[in-house]
Amino acid sequence: MVESDVKWEDGKIVCVLPITLPTSHIRVKRNDEPVAVRKYKIEEGDVLEWQISYYKEGRGLIEAGKMLMIAYAHRLINKNQLTELIDYINNVPILFEEGFKIFKRKTVEKFLGEFEVMYREVPIIHKNLDNGCFLEAELKHKQKAVGYQPMLYVFIPVKNVISTSLTNSIVGRKAMKKEVVKWYPTSRDVIEIIKTFGILSKKHNRDILRIIKQIEKDLG
Ligand code: ADE
Repeated sequence: MVESDVKWEDGKIVCVLPITLPTSHIRVKRNDEPVAVRKYKIEEGDVLEWQISYYKEGRGLIEAGKMLMIAYAHRLINKNQLTELIDYINNVPILFEEGFKIFKRKTVEKFLGEFEVMYREVPIIHKNLDNGCFLEAELKHKQKAVGYQPMLYVFIPVKNVISTSLTNSIVGRKAMKKEVVKWYPTSRDVIEIIKTFGILSKKHNRDILRIIKQIEKDLG
């Protein structure tokens, strides 16, 4: 299976993202709905939604974790910025998980005359990155436990990515079989992704702090 990868190439950080795999953490979305890109043409305003990770047991740093490591190794992020990042993560006054809850709202609407209609309101925090990219974190109920599980997504306009196959842009056509694209995050994108992971929950905060300190220790 083709997985996402992050590497250093031609003096830039590059994220290599498969866009056609239903099981992957990357989807194309239009108006917040997934698009079947093997069937329908990708449009100018579409965005890639990447449910990004930072660490994988047995593999170590991946995706966001690897971006930070590479950015620091190649001095796109300096020691001072890494220290600022640690300070920020260490001093978050309130975590996303603690500050919000999922809310069930009643209405006077009826369905088929006999059902009350309710809506579940899910908190989402949003932050713009560079070049039209943005981050969103959403609170979810934990699948098999009590409590919330915040999920972070990076959104990337499709016009910001280039295909690794012959045609460069993916806009205005269907995706090819097993199509893979490249996205070049800025150093600010990397910093904001890491900061946002660090404010999601206590567990994320601890994980991210550990990762930054490990990178600092390994790379000096
Ligand atoms: N842990 C791994 N990936 C995550 C994501 N996208 N959001 C929140 N926590 C995660």
